[in-house]
Amino acid sequence: MSDTISVNGEQHSLPSDPRTSLLDFLRHDLGLTGTKKGCDHGQCGACTVIVNGIRINSCLTLAAMHDGDEITTIEGLGTPENPSALQKAFLEHDGFQCGYCTPGQICSATAMLQEIANNWPSDASESLEGEMAATGEEIRERMSGNLCRCGAYANIVAAISEVAE
Ligand code: FES
Repeated sequence: MSDTISVNGEQHSLPSDPRTSLLDFLRHDLGLTGTKKGCDHGQCGACTVIVNGIRINSCLTLAAMHDGDEITTIEGLGTPENPSALQKAFLEHDGFQCGYCTPGQICSATAMLQEIANNWPSDASESLEGEMAATGEEIRERMSGNLCRCGAYANIVAAISEVAE
């Protein structure tokens, strides 16, 4: 037990209250408000962050469970001056309307593209096996945990498709 957590490459002490969710820790303790709270029940994906390369809903896990883990939030993926390829593509394709779900969408898509590159999960259903080409259908399926109440799905898929090519 190191009692520390790495967030966007910086080490932080775990919260003193073991009941603190990872989402609340990021937003309230560290001030990383790019990660959004939507449902707080694992249903919308607005709170998605990347933990050791895997995307998770940060509202569903306690910060204390991530002793020694590496967390990446939207703030760690790029900056306004130096955005990631996905951040750029979302801008170019208008992959948002109100923007509330966008950090979760981009964190999720970042890890999802890595899942495809790694051919993960290896026990995926038949439709997800084989070439694993990031078709629109494949992207929609893999991004189904990230809801957009504005309905900007077509542009979100277009943005992700551009980076997946
Ligand atoms: Fe975590 Fe909705 S806020 S899934």
